[in-house]
Amino acid sequence: MASKIAVIGTGYVGLTTGACLASMGHDVVCVDVDVDKVARLNSGEIPILEDGLDRLVLEGRRSGRLSFVVGAAAAVPGREFVYLCVPTPQGDDGSADLSYIESAAREIGPHLDREAIVINKSTVPVGSTRVVERALQRGDVAVVSNPEFLREGSAVHDFLHPDRVVIGAADQAAAIRMAGLYIGLTAPIMVTDPASAETIKYASNAFLATKISFVNAVAAVCEAVGADVNDVVLGMGYDKRIGQEFLRPGPGWGGSCFPKDTIALIRIAEDAGYDFRLLKGVKDVNDEQFERVTRKVIDAVGGDISGRRIAAWGITFKARTDDTRMSPAIEIIKRLQTAGGEVMAYDPAIRAEIEGISVAEDAISACQDAEVLVILTEWDEFKWVDMEAVAEAMATRRIVDARNLLDRSSVRQLGFDYQGIGRS
Ligand code: UGA
Repeated sequence: MASKIAVIGTGYVGLTTGACLASMGHDVVCVDVDVDKVARLNSGEIPILEDGLDRLVLEGRRSGRLSFVVGAAAAVPGREFVYLCVPTPQGDDGSADLSYIESAAREIGPHLDREAIVINKSTVPVGSTRVVERALQRGDVAVVSNPEFLREGSAVHDFLHPDRVVIGAADQAAAIRMAGLYIGLTAPIMVTDPASAETIKYASNAFLATKISFVNAVAAVCEAVGADVNDVVLGMGYDKRIGQEFLRPGPGWGGSCFPKDTIALIRIAEDAGYDFRLLKGVKDVNDEQFERVTRKVIDAVGGDISGRRIAAWGITFKARTDDTRMSPAIEIIKRLQTAGGEVMAYDPAIRAEIEGISVAEDAISACQDAEVLVILTEWDEFKWVDMEAVAEAMATRRIVDARNLLDRSSVRQLGFDYQGIGRS
């Protein structure tokens, strides 16, 4: 059955949620405070790179089931469900900053229909459902936690084909009403209390970050003992209890979620009297990984990169997104610059200079006169670059492949000194 829904916040979570719910037949209004952004969305412009989102937004607008407006107060009357999808950035002390979510709740409170359900999708510390309830000041309105598990770059797919839907509600009737929104999705729907739902979100991200730090640490061991991390991971992953996913070694994890959420969970635990040393170690391993990759590049050119030209492929925090927030690629490029290196970067999703990093037109021109090429983001197109042309362009043929992306034997045949991560 189609429901009337408002989505507050048109970031990648809000916009994906709104567009996907409209594609499932619901009547959705998406709200933002940014007048310009709303105007652009109404003219069909999608502000982020997200596979399949432009098509869903277009279809939604054409069908009349998806619209964009400014101002939450005017948008919520008549809506049975209101999703909060506003940012929860990292505050000065590491905990999540709830000011956006509180002000959104204060704004919509007086305008909500009786018995509307407010659904919190923002990642919030345990207990925040209560914060929303207080800010709403509406005893007749249920607040439900419904954490998102959307990966940037495949957010539409993840929304429409979730592994699970988690609903945290004190009010069972509200949870059941809410579960009705997801009829048609073939995923287990799990109903729990709000604190557990909020913890599921943090624990999931922290666990995934742990897997990656673990494999990056194993990669360091592989280098020391002469093993090949790619084979090690493959062999581990066949064990169903371990699985193949999120075991790709790389330059460290980043993005807008893992760094913020791991720190927040360490903080949540600390406030509750538990010293989450394991997770602190996971974060330390990640910081070390940035340094390990930086060191590999410096060592590749003999230990001193001042004034040396370096080509970097990849700026975004992972492939298939244009998001550069907390990108390991940027972190490593900055460390190389600090060590005196002259970096020319290329990324298929970044067209202009960013954070003091020069950006080339294409992968080959980034390599012009470079003494080493470092691969930092796993864009598919890097696999298909003409490596003979790269060899011609570079001053010396050296590659540090922090994503183990290239076929090492074919680049070695072209005379490259090639180093990956966790394998020789
Ligand atoms: C992550 C989670 O995967 C989503 O489930 C969650 O909903 C989202 O955060 C969120 O909290 O909003 P995302 O930040 O889009 O999604 O990125 P991931 O695909 O998880 O990648 C995070 C980082 O780990 C990237 O830097 C990526 O390159 C790195 N990574 C990932 C690896 O180094 N190795 C892997 O095997 C996987």
